[in-house]
Amino acid sequence: MSREITRRDFLKAGAVGLAATSMLGSVKVFADEKEDKKAEIPFAGKKKFAGIGSCRNVTEDIVYVGVSDRRIQLFENVYPVPRGVSYNSYVLLDKKTVLFDTVDRSVTGQFFENLTAVLDGQKLDYLVVNHMEPDHSSAISEVLVRYPEAKVVCTKAASVILNQFFACDISDRSVIVGEGDTLNVGNHTLTFVMAPMVHWPEVMMTYDSVSGILFSADAFGSFGALNGNLFADEVNFEKDWLPDARRYYCNIVGKYGQQVQSVLAKAGGVDIRTLCPTHGPVWRKDLGWILNKYSLWSSYTPEDKAVMVVYGSVYGGTESAANAVAAKISQAGVADVAVYDVSKTHVSELIAEAFRCSHIVLASITYNMGIFTPMKNFLLDLEAHNLQNRCFSFVENGSWSPVSGKQMREIVDRLGGCSVVGKTVTIKSSPASGDSTALTELAEAVSASVLGNSTSQKKVEAAVSKKWVCTVCGYVYEGDKLPEDYKCPLCGAGINAFKEA
Ligand code: FEO
Repeated sequence: MSREITRRDFLKAGAVGLAATSMLGSVKVFADEKEDKKAEIPFAGKKKFAGIGSCRNVTEDIVYVGVSDRRIQLFENVYPVPRGVSYNSYVLLDKKTVLFDTVDRSVTGQFFENLTAVLDGQKLDYLVVNHMEPDHSSAISEVLVRYPEAKVVCTKAASVILNQFFACDISDRSVIVGEGDTLNVGNHTLTFVMAPMVHWPEVMMTYDSVSGILFSADAFGSFGALNGNLFADEVNFEKDWLPDARRYYCNIVGKYGQQVQSVLAKAGGVDIRTLCPTHGPVWRKDLGWILNKYSLWSSYTPEDKAVMVVYGSVYGGTESAANAVAAKISQAGVADVAVYDVSKTHVSELIAEAFRCSHIVLASITYNMGIFTPMKNFLLDLEAHNLQNRCFSFVENGSWSPVSGKQMREIVDRLGGCSVVGKTVTIKSSPASGDSTALTELAEAVSASVLGNSTSQKKVEAAVSKKWVCTVCGYVYEGDKLPEDYKCPLCGAGINAFKEA
């Protein structure tokens, strides 16, 4: 006779002793010498649905078991993902078996199909939770039920948040790890690297020295479903994936550039041969290319010397002025000018473009004695994402009391390391013949700055070229000025420990 069993009952019933722990210096080394045995899965059927799995080997003994979701419309209920998204999960088949992260609840059927196919009846020994945001942790409860001997390896913060989201108390089967702790699972030894705020506070990454794989959580991820091709070198990444990778990074992690820089500094001393993120393709070639993109994005350095023109217009006058400025900038020799209607372009696209471009021209009507609402939202989102080191120019429109230029500039002035190019142009309702000179002068100032023959451009280059190195731990801070109250995010040292590089 069956009885209803709660998730907590399952967890308690399946609890086994924690891995033996010993202290080695300040880090913990975990090992488990128990004999392997076949799992006794508490389900009549091993698979959630019939199927053979859709897995791919990353290495001989590390297998991709993640799933792509092509039905999703909005990632995090905010970001349009017309190309879908993948939730990446990996299994290491060693003396002990290890699962790295799980998937979103929308795709658990395919996930368990993959997992059971790869484990092929073996028990699961460890579930490493690098990131417990629900798009990666929604299947944890079911994993723990299906594999009652599995222990959860995670940070203390992850265990707390996991319980908050899923009422999933793992205290009797967790292995809490910190910076530099290791776990031996046979031929492989895993090292845990803390990565707080990339993208949540509980995030860590896991490094396997045998394969040279860094399981990098959200870092190096991308929007976009995987279509059989798992590796970045199996697709035309720069053409087909880079815009979504940039949009993913800038909108999801962009605010935390300093924390990303910390992780990049740690990665600099490690032999990383493959990056296994939790979204998007796996990187096994040309790692320097994507690392360089991350270095630019996280230091708020423009990726391209390029211009984006963003306008907010109701009856077309501001749009006409924006088009005129864009044409004149282009005529002056600037290639690939990008023009966006702020009302028609999703703000996540605009944020990504702002991270790419060195120069941003803003043209807005005056609305309710302020900035046009979609333009204001865009600018406040830029501020929230900590954008820095850009050149801004302004066009304002107001039929009787234009104020949007002044108010846009007030927001831009709050961004770090930014400068203003040219004089704000004011139009009334529609550009008149008398406005042509001012619009031309603004376009000339922008194009001269982009093409490198103005003091404004030199100011931007100077603003992004300074670096200070922490003499205690090697962390590198980049920006125009080291703040007086700055503390090293890695070791906590004050500014006296920093030397300009
Ligand atoms: Fe893909 Fe921060 O979760």
